[in-house]
Amino acid sequence: MSFGKIIYRKNTELSKRIDMQKVPEHVAIIMDGNGRWATKKGLPRSFGHNKGVSVLKEILKASKNLGCKVLTVYAFSTENWTRPTKEVDFLINLFREVLRNEIEEIHQELIKIKFIGDLSPFPKDLKQLIYNSESLTKNNNSFLLNICANYGGRQEIVKVAKELAIKSSSGEIKPSEVNEELFNSELLTRGIKDPELLIRTSGEKRISNFLLWQLAYSEIYISDVLWPDFNEFEFLKAIIDYQSRNRRFGGIESLPNESFEDSQYSS
Ligand code: IPE
Ligand code: IPE
Ligand code: MG
Repeated sequence: MSFGKIIYRKNTELSKRIDMQKVPEHVAIIMDGNGRWATKKGLPRSFGHNKGVSVLKEILKASKNLGCKVLTVYAFSTENWTRPTKEVDFLINLFREVLRNEIEEIHQELIKIKFIGDLSPFPKDLKQLIYNSESLTKNNNSFLLNICANYGGRQEIVKVAKELAIKSSSGEIKPSEVNEELFNSELLTRGIKDPELLIRTSGEKRISNFLLWQLAYSEIYISDVLWPDFNEFEFLKAIIDYQSRNRRFGGIESLPNESFEDSQYSS
């Protein structure tokens, strides 16, 4: 049997364990570990970033096939500018290449692409490419791919606070009207359901300034696999793990009425 067939069989077996009624609508991913993957192989870090792009393509396909509706990936954080200029330039160029090479296929697959973050520091031609890709795919409604580029959760929250302060001082809203709903409506992810599942690869157990508001009640899955080695099989494992979670949202597991009567709370 060929290698491809073995992988297909492994993935199919895993898929059978997935409850199709409980597939998360929105999955967010911190794609981490590209540099370590390359260094381990004695290669420049850029090789890890390149391989990371092909993994993203695989996971985009896998999540869409599974029935997810939104995939939000962390591609470049507001803190990533502190990396050596050569690496930053490489990553910026990778955005260009990926958009140029992949946008047609993304569009054919009826996927809408959206960039989330402060795009102002990026080169003019990249901003144009981003704008063109977003407008080409804006009416696609089979799936939404959010790419977080120069994104920081704290910066996003400060931006919302600023917008609301401006609206309040101009009299458009009253300070007493500020609530979660209004706050949500100013977020870069407005109109999109919060992620039910956050996956972080490479074993790091931190959020690194990603979607601080939106992840309030997301289930977190940490995979030790480095992003360039991540694949559909690992993704399906994350989904199965997510489906085993008991999401309580601060409440308790529902109890039959009589148990409540008998509980320690009854007088
Ligand atoms: C994630 O991989 C990609 C970006 C942050 C752009 P890293 O580049 O952080 O890889 P490690 O964590 O150093 O291995
Ligand atoms: C988070 O990874 C950002 C992206 C994946 C784009 P980092 O590698 O930048 O995060 P830290 O430095 O480990 O917190
Ligand atoms: Mg990293």
